[in-house]
Amino acid sequence: MNSEKKLKVFGICGSPKKGATDYIVLEALKYANEKYNAQTEYFSAMGKKMNFCIHCDYCIREKKGCIHKDDLQEVYEKLKWADAIIIGTPVYQGMISGQTKVIMDRCRALAAQDLHFILNKPGAAFAVGGDRIGGQEPSIQAILNFYIINEAIPVGGGSFGANLGGTFWSKDKGAQGAKEDEEGLKSMRKTMNRLIKLASILNKENSNVI
Ligand SMILES: Cc1cc2nc3c(=O)[nH]c(=O)nc-3n(C[C@H](O)[C@H](O)[C@H](O)COP(=O)(O)O)c2cc1C
Repeated sequence: MNSEKKLKVFGICGSPKKGATDYIVLEALKYANEKYNAQTEYFSAMGKKMNFCIHCDYCIREKKGCIHKDDLQEVYEKLKWADAIIIGTPVYQGMISGQTKVIMDRCRALAAQDLHFILNKPGAAFAVGGDRIGGQEPSIQAILNFYIINEAIPVGGGSFGANLGGTFWSKDKGAQGAKEDEEGLKSMRKTMNRLIKLASILNKENSNVI
């Protein structure tokens, strides 16, 4: 890959713990850095103050961002900065975590200012369940829908190993469980390869088009 200009990859972890999701998103960023010389930024929901969207429509009326001046300001800045995005979530009740949902809901404030805030940026999804089939795919799908709705480009990892994105089985053992999930880590690497290659192509395209 031509590395004159480093690709910027932003990873979000929607877990409130330093557990499996944190481990996987950080591994993915490390992989992007070591294999593709990407520049990376990371945001974990752990310990962060993140208010619910209260549908006050301040963002729509004022076009000055969100009424909540909390820790999600950092996410807003980094989403705009990134060339490629990863959102990783733990599976809660067969779905994304509440933290992941809050992060995505609160992006309405960004769209209210600029509908194209992540236009044509490739985005990948990772989901970590305690069970082998615990709701990883609906969780991934919810994240991919977020990308579609916001004009980003959802990326999977391809057939024979990754399909819709990164799927992980932590066996409720936190980071250690993720580390032991070789199939899951393979799905992460396959997804990252697609994400970075597409970001690289789009970056060249975008420099001409936009
Ligand atoms: C409230 C809650 C609901 C959960 N629901 C599910 C579930 O539906 N399916 C599943 O496979 N695991 C479920 N789990 C287990 C977590 O997905 C699993 O432990 C995961 O590794 C947590 O990720 P983390 O270590 O990054 O926080 C649930 C955990 C919690 C706390």
